[in-house]
Amino acid sequence: MSVSDEIKQRIDIVELVSRYTVLRKAGSNYKGLCPFHSERTPSFVVFPQSGTWRCFGACGDGGDIFSFIMRKENLDFREALHMLAKEAGVDLENNPADPIRNRRARIAEANAAAADYYRRILLTHPAAAPARAYLQRRGIDEATIATFQLGYSLEQWSGLRDHLLAQKFDLDLLIAAGLVKRHEERNSTYDAFRNRVMIPIRDRLGRVIGFGGRVLDGSQPKYLNTADTDLFHKSHIVYGLDLAHQAIREQDRVVIVEGYMDVIAAHQHGFANVVACMGTALTAEQLQQLQRYTNNFVLALDADTAGQQATIRGLNQARQALSRVRKPTVTATGVRMTERLGAALYIAAMPSGRDPDDVIRQDPAAWQALIAQAKPLVDFYFSAVAQETDLTGARGKGLAVAELTPLIAELEDEVEREHYIQRLARLVQLDERTIAGRVQAAARTEQAIQQRGQHAHRNAARHAPRAAGQAEPSPAQHTGAPAQSTIVTEDYLLAHLLRDPDLLIWLTTAASEREIAPLDVSDWQHVENQEIFRSLKYFMSGDIPWDIELFQESLPAPLHGRLAQLLAAGAALPAYHGDDVRTDLLKVLVRLRLDRLRARTLQVRFLLDEATSNGERDDARDLFTLSNQVLRDLSHLQTKYHELGRALAGAQRGELGVKIR
Ligand code: UTP
Ligand code: MN
Repeated sequence: MSVSDEIKQRIDIVELVSRYTVLRKAGSNYKGLCPFHSERTPSFVVFPQSGTWRCFGACGDGGDIFSFIMRKENLDFREALHMLAKEAGVDLENNPADPIRNRRARIAEANAAAADYYRRILLTHPAAAPARAYLQRRGIDEATIATFQLGYSLEQWSGLRDHLLAQKFDLDLLIAAGLVKRHEERNSTYDAFRNRVMIPIRDRLGRVIGFGGRVLDGSQPKYLNTADTDLFHKSHIVYGLDLAHQAIREQDRVVIVEGYMDVIAAHQHGFANVVACMGTALTAEQLQQLQRYTNNFVLALDADTAGQQATIRGLNQARQALSRVRKPTVTATGVRMTERLGAALYIAAMPSGRDPDDVIRQDPAAWQALIAQAKPLVDFYFSAVAQETDLTGARGKGLAVAELTPLIAELEDEVEREHYIQRLARLVQLDERTIAGRVQAAARTEQAIQQRGQHAHRNAARHAPRAAGQAEPSPAQHTGAPAQSTIVTEDYLLAHLLRDPDLLIWLTTAASEREIAPLDVSDWQHVENQEIFRSLKYFMSGDIPWDIELFQESLPAPLHGRLAQLLAAGAALPAYHGDDVRTDLLKVLVRLRLDRLRARTLQVRFLLDEATSNGERDDARDLFTLSNQVLRDLSHLQTKYHELGRALAGAQRGELGVKIR
């Protein structure tokens, strides 16, 4: 039994969920108000037999104890695993330690020791007097210096190196940590940071993962940052998150600034929900991390319009990575799930020539007002587009419409959408109906893009495991393998993907092109598989070439055993011809989805019966619509399945190896 199964067995899902919402028994299940959205009639069901939950109302979400806690407590899988393991008294630590993980831990230790060293120098060394004066001039007080662990690196070539070597860190590690550099020709090593105010960069858990070092004068570069290491990836870092995450959650809002000093000033003045994106354009990874705490983003941008417009454009890209909220929309033919951006993006423009640090230090109230008056991204986007596009010609108009409609399509509120449609119509002097049509088309495109899910990872992928009454996943059998082996479908799919991860990209695109269900693992039986799949998808969406060791490193240790099993299963799979495996996998994909839809049908029917016999007419009507929707999806998929079956039969049958019931 896997660790997660063991945890699931020991924790009572009804008890767990009851901590967040009142459940009452309904047949063999439990029902209550959905803890994830506000509703008046209960549409949230817990199925104790399968250890799962599902909301049959607006959010349509479902899952097991892990996904429940992940959503409710804003945790990632690793954290949820730790929390529930602790509660269940399951030991996660008996996993054999692996060397890469140790190396990263050692890098973090070296960084912590370096931060201590720099801090002590700042506070006590005579040569640090100018640095102390500098910080004082910038209004940074002693408490803030302590909170941010600020320090100073001396104007020396080997002070840190010698200090850390004496503490038994080895030279290679210091180089791997980016603290020490090697001069190849002279075959010597030297400290990476010299004569700078040192700003430790900590991850969300407070571990020092790198440094930013600022010069005391006007020389260049103003900031020197740790080069990317095993632990430090600049584009992923949200500076200040360790200090800010609680406030962000409490205030349900994050304020994002550009610089270290902006964060430091904000926190010193009590604005604790401020973090920085480290000067680069905001990345999808950064947004996704923040979305675990809030869906309300305020960007404090400087007044320089060129920079602002670049940022806003970048933001428009990055926002596509944000997770979507699925909402049922009633159409003429039934209920359709539409996805909208679950996040609100606002821009607060700083007065010309000043950054948040200046504003806050001069007048904290003014800062507060600027943040309170932040305007929706779409407003800024309008002016950016208007300024950069020649709107007199057809091409310019076309461009402006193409750029702005996706943002409008995403707005939650119909009145708001109407407002911006009118505004865009005026801007390009076109008929409102034309614009409205484009907005609708944009909404469809966005959805398709989202379903291809290039950045989805944990945010978009929701857990929703098997429901009560669902059959065991049907095994895909290998008739082609020498000894006939049976392997669970999801394992089979994953084993293939791990053997050849490029298949994942192909499969995702192919599924979307053929209007087959997107590759969605939320109903998979094993959370380990779900998590390995998500991590794989995440890995493949990045720029780093496939590397199994790196990939393993990115997984929580409790998943390593599962990964090893899957890799072994993959190695045992027969060799395929390229196209065969593809068609085969596509079919497996459909099969998984079919299983899920069948289970969903049963569930909905069960609830429908219950609602009818209890005389809950509103519920019954909603469930009836839902049931029709599921049945339609089912029949669509069945057609696809048969089409694929024929395609498969047309290929060289004998070698395909997989026969699916
Ligand atoms: P800023 O120049 O706005 O930084 O760059 P700042 O924090 O306001 O700096 P001060 O007030 O002049 O001390 C924003 C961020 O961009 C990154 C840093 O993270 C900085 O905080 N940056 C900037 C670099 O990494 N290197 C540089 O040379 C400059
Ligand atoms: Mn500044």
